[in-house]
Amino acid sequence: MELDELRNEMTRVLSSKRAKHALGCESEAEKLALRWGADPYKARQAAILHDITKERNREEQLKLCEKYSIMLGDVEKLEWPLLHALTAAEIARSVYHVSGDICEAVRYHTTGKENMTLLQKIIYLADFIEPTRTFRGVCKLRKLAYKNINEALLFAFDSSIKEVLNRGGILHPDTVNGRNWICTKGRD
Ligand SMILES: [Fe+2]
Ligand SMILES: [Fe+2]
Repeated sequence: MELDELRNEMTRVLSSKRAKHALGCESEAEKLALRWGADPYKARQAAILHDITKERNREEQLKLCEKYSIMLGDVEKLEWPLLHALTAAEIARSVYHVSGDICEAVRYHTTGKENMTLLQKIIYLADFIEPTRTFRGVCKLRKLAYKNINEALLFAFDSSIKEVLNRGGILHPDTVNGRNWICTKGRD
């Protein structure tokens, strides 16, 4: 599917506010891809699709998980908003037929993980820093993302972990492992 077709589908499915976020993500992901030598076309596809199921409720998410035989870990069962990344990845694969590396970037856009590919890092960060984002520290993270992508990733992991702890949520092991990976081997 061409980018404009994907974009039309996305804007049809999502509210205008969420679609604006995804479009912001698309332009940010393209810029990051050009800065760091990833494929800008793949980055744009992943960004357009990353939140495609975000507005589905818990019940719908669980139905999609069943439909696509998605195995849920203990944290995902309790923190159901995490499911949108898993279901969006499956929709990207089976409905929009994008390549596996794009689906994986969608899959890990919320939690991150160890051994992230460049494309996965770009989507994770684009989601954090796209122009409509306003959280504390976003200006610093925007600069860092273009200066040192691994330091930016560490900053983003830390912000995400702090946010989960502040609301008394449960940390996903992929986020903790991703954060520790950056601190140990991921900076090379
Ligand atoms: Fe998301
Ligand atoms: Fe997002």
